[in-house]
Amino acid sequence: MTQTVSIYPDRQALIDAAVTVMVDRIRAAVNERHSCAIALSGGSTPQPLYAALAHTDLPWERIHIFWGDERYVAPTHPDSNYGMTRRVWLDLVTIPAANVHPMRTDFADPQLAAADYERQIATHFGLAAGEFPAFDLILLGMGDDGHTASLFPHTAALSVVDRAVTVGDKDGQPRLTFTYPTLDRSRSTIFLIAGASKQAALAEVFAPTGDASTYPSRGIVPQGELLWLLDAAAGEKLAPSS
Ligand code: 6PG
Repeated sequence: MTQTVSIYPDRQALIDAAVTVMVDRIRAAVNERHSCAIALSGGSTPQPLYAALAHTDLPWERIHIFWGDERYVAPTHPDSNYGMTRRVWLDLVTIPAANVHPMRTDFADPQLAAADYERQIATHFGLAAGEFPAFDLILLGMGDDGHTASLFPHTAALSVVDRAVTVGDKDGQPRLTFTYPTLDRSRSTIFLIAGASKQAALAEVFAPTGDASTYPSRGIVPQGELLWLLDAAAGEKLAPSS
């Protein structure tokens, strides 16, 4: 794993940099492998990034969009990560419908939805049983508590290492989430983090010693590159490496 920390003066500079990095990684994947599989994060931080990506000139027919986690709500629900991404980005570009792979949230049992998404991923990547996918790019955010995707502190999902997708738990509410093995197979992983409310958790994540079950973002150790893209409000106590 190669890890880089980049700190930008404000949120707009952060988003501008994230657009540049994502477009670069997407184009590199398409040039090398003729396709790019991306898993997106939800929440509020990436929304302006997604809105900006809608105005880039990318080979949409070569790009496949997945989600690294999802709230267990209908796509029309205001909390839906898929619904948000469609509104601000995917409905504005000519990406083929078959290239957009939302997590289904219409099973009565979220475990069935997790298994369904595993099957979708296995089909797309041509995986044998027990194999994990190697996404070209995974975008992650981090909560004020240090969670990432829907891997929340001291929850069972943190210990699931034999499945690619599992059911997370946010205060008793089910979420679908990639597991650590899936997240760690990515060729490029970007943490996009902004705001002073993230400072304390970031300090714990970057501390020389610590507990990933308390700060799950510590547990992300991808095989490929790990890029931390932070605004100054979030990262001012950290030392940038680029
Ligand atoms: C989600 C995300 C989650 C998010 C963090 C940060 O579904 O909410 O995937 O992991 O990235 O909670 O959220 P904000 O960007 O809104 O602070």
